[in-house]
Amino acid sequence: MAKNSVIYPLSNVNKQGQNIVLQRGEGSYVLDRNGRRYIDLNSGLWNVPLGYGVNRYEKVIAEQCHTLHYINLISASSPKTDQFADEMIDYAGNGFARLVYACSGSEAVECAIKIARKYMYIIEEPKRKVILSFDMSYHGTTYAAMSVSGMVRETAEYTPLMEGVRFLRTPFFPGMNAAETDEREREAYLEDLEQNFRKRDVAAVLLEPVMGSGGVITLPDWYQTRLFYLMNRYGVLLIADEVATGFGRTGYKFASEKFSVKPDLLCLSKSVTNGIMPMGAVLVNQRIADTYAKKNEYVNHFSTQNGNPIACAIGCETLRLIDAKMIRRVNDQSVQWRSFLQDLRECQPHIREIRVEGLMIAIDLVDDEGSPVSMDELNLLESFALRQGMLVYMFQCPGRTAGLMLMPPYGLSGEEIGRAVRALEKVIGSIG
Ligand SMILES: Cc1ncc(COP(=O)(O)O)c(C=O)c1O
Repeated sequence: MAKNSVIYPLSNVNKQGQNIVLQRGEGSYVLDRNGRRYIDLNSGLWNVPLGYGVNRYEKVIAEQCHTLHYINLISASSPKTDQFADEMIDYAGNGFARLVYACSGSEAVECAIKIARKYMYIIEEPKRKVILSFDMSYHGTTYAAMSVSGMVRETAEYTPLMEGVRFLRTPFFPGMNAAETDEREREAYLEDLEQNFRKRDVAAVLLEPVMGSGGVITLPDWYQTRLFYLMNRYGVLLIADEVATGFGRTGYKFASEKFSVKPDLLCLSKSVTNGIMPMGAVLVNQRIADTYAKKNEYVNHFSTQNGNPIACAIGCETLRLIDAKMIRRVNDQSVQWRSFLQDLRECQPHIREIRVEGLMIAIDLVDDEGSPVSMDELNLLESFALRQGMLVYMFQCPGRTAGLMLMPPYGLSGEEIGRAVRALEKVIGSIG
């Protein structure tokens, strides 16, 4: 009998025994201790896109365990640590030149903020310290990551948070197409943006190319154009947080490939090891790398497991597994999900909008009054989905959007997608 020693993350400390106990993973499915199968539409926590029990990983893990399982990256290197960094830079393309290791998404975000602020210091712009972030963004829960996360609530007990952060109001207009947004409303968003830049104190804009936890939200083109224009004009860096969107999730290797500008820094984690080992990294572009190099500067960031050779070996295998062919499959499946979900939308009045970016899917739900559904309702839906044999996730930005989130694994057939959507129909039909 377990002693209930675990304090579960982001849950009431008295929570005991309510979590499903998972015992096995098989492809896109997980099994509980009674042998009941669930389709994992969360892909773990968005980090197991290739599913469970991938033989090719087992082989590289065994090999690396036999060869060398740890190095201290401060004073040593190893073939795998170098190999992953080189291959990762080639895989990402887009002007990246160097890589800094981390162990999680939050740590990568922390590290990118440090690199950006110090860059401003090196180029003798030490007053530029502010990180501009979005109020519907999520970047993690370590101190700096929490401080730059717009949607992390209940932070009062943890103050003071990191200084030098400002939030931009996310231009988000659910259920409308771009042409419908009111001209005056657009102007208000753009004015807010300009005001923030005019202060000449901004070091970097931190942006998820697709805001995942906020509910699969992308910035409209008219906003993105002005944002990138202002960043260029004021010499502000772009940090792309691709912790959730990386490695094919949006139908591109990295979602920022679609941007009209190249990010200066890119944070990655999650799918890089398919959830097998904790790992993260920051990719650094040539300009920043050269600026540091010219002044013989260093990055004051490290944690003991950075660049773990087993994690690196797994990462190298991921780069081979999530290749162009796999990304084409993601795009094909995205089309299938879109078409099944469109049919669902037509028969479910509680669906306000379905937002799909590759295999990132938000089903935006409203109650009978047209307001975003409550957290209590979402909890009921999640439990209902579990009873239907599905693991799904939820999202909520109070007052703006709430609903169910799907981050399906990359290996589902059309038939499996159809079956999942039919089960979702029952789940969503239970609202009210
Ligand atoms: C966009 C984004 N950034 C950062 C993080 C934090 O990553 P981690 O939980 O590995 O610290 C997450 C986690 O969901 C994320 O979605």
